[in-house]
Amino acid sequence: MEKKTVKKTSKKAPVEKKNLEPIVLQTLRGMKDILPEEQSYWEQVRRVSERLARDYGFSRIDLPSVEFSNLYVRTIGEGTDVIDKEMYNFTTRGGDKVALRPEFTAGICRSFIQHGMNVLSKPVKLFSTGPVYRYDRPQEGRYREHYQANFDAFGEQDPILDAQMIQIAHRFMQCLGIKAVQIQINSIGCPTCRKDYLNLLVNYFDSKKNKLCQDCKRRLETNPLRILDCKEDKCVQVAVTAPQSVDHLCEECHVHFKTLLEYLDELDLPYTINPHLVRGLDYYTKTVFEIWSGSEEGKKFSLGGGGRYDKLLKNLGGEDTPAIGFAVGIERLIIEMKRVQARPYKPMKPRVFLAQLGNMAKKKSLRLFSELEKNGILIAESFGRGSLKSQLKVANKLGVEFTLILGQKEALDGTVIVKNMTTGVQETVSMDKLFDMIKRKLKADNVVVYHNGEHDTHGV
Ligand code: HAM
Repeated sequence: MEKKTVKKTSKKAPVEKKNLEPIVLQTLRGMKDILPEEQSYWEQVRRVSERLARDYGFSRIDLPSVEFSNLYVRTIGEGTDVIDKEMYNFTTRGGDKVALRPEFTAGICRSFIQHGMNVLSKPVKLFSTGPVYRYDRPQEGRYREHYQANFDAFGEQDPILDAQMIQIAHRFMQCLGIKAVQIQINSIGCPTCRKDYLNLLVNYFDSKKNKLCQDCKRRLETNPLRILDCKEDKCVQVAVTAPQSVDHLCEECHVHFKTLLEYLDELDLPYTINPHLVRGLDYYTKTVFEIWSGSEEGKKFSLGGGGRYDKLLKNLGGEDTPAIGFAVGIERLIIEMKRVQARPYKPMKPRVFLAQLGNMAKKKSLRLFSELEKNGILIAESFGRGSLKSQLKVANKLGVEFTLILGQKEALDGTVIVKNMTTGVQETVSMDKLFDMIKRKLKADNVVVYHNGEHDTHGV
């Protein structure tokens, strides 16, 4: 037979690239990993948001995290911090000017128009959740990437929908165990009444211009409403006696606000009218609201906020469609949950452990695990460990009630040993009877088998 010659490969060492920048093994400033140990809080928020969305008739919508920049500029508005200071703008290789989404509403409106959702029966209720990006100065509760759960409803101008949105936001907090919250509410009117109000406001602030901070002097030209919620002491002083939008509403906006308050009274929701609440996004009309922690130590940031934006769809080129929505900041909810010691989600623990002994049993154990899983039995294992002793140690640590032991003999016979971990009693069961037997034993405690029922959601 002819001997095959193997071509020798060159032994030259790969050229080492010099002057490589070291990799910084850290998340970017203002961004974070959500590690497994944090997930029980995130899971609880996910479950509550999804359940409320379902119960209040919202359909889920998922959108790209990147859109054309001008979509955000045209909706949120120039002169707002989100647009002027916080957008992650970039140009793609194809030359498109795009931005990471700083919020959901603009993208949802774009999608509503693009997919002709105006033909759907009203109100069209849409729910989204995911990360949003704002290049803000990071601190506790303020991140450059944060997650929101966002609820928007299109096509209904009746204030009953405003009340329902506030009700959902409030219920969200209650379901998470954040019991003490304060709802701040205001009406900033419609373009018609706001024009006259803004004139009044500008005249007022202009007369006190020298008492305003530099930013507010600029805002006087670009966004006078925002002076009302400036946190600088001297501006707060000036804002106290400023004209209030609720005193200058047109008849329609006045009735809308009054009716909304009646609905909130009917619901016994704990609201406060805050005449300085204007929100940081320009698209709002009429109702605006924010949810804050009700206790003094928690009052560092809003947990959620939203309002009506009846003109936005038309301004974007869609049909004239009233709309209202709100978003909650998930990180802030979790900070508050921890502060008030609210319970996170508690996942179900496996009550059965599968141990294997010997090569043949080890080979069969993967299939057995999968059969158990298909039968809806939540099971733990430690396949990498060799000795039965060390596997039983893991089983004990997990606190399981039964351990299934698959050894050489059992693997040949088509049986399994079922060990009761409390009594130590062992019985040998044939494989075809195993699943029913385990289910019977687990159900004997009235505990629902894994896939057949909903997990415990703490009364959510
Ligand atoms: P927003 O008030 O800008 O409203 O944000 C909603 C919530 O996101 C805030 O109440 C806060 O809890 C959280 N949040 C905002 N910025 C940060 C940050 N830098 N770090 C951590 N959490 C933050 C909106 O985004 C509107 N799109 C809500 C809406 C929906 N309006 C109508 N529909």
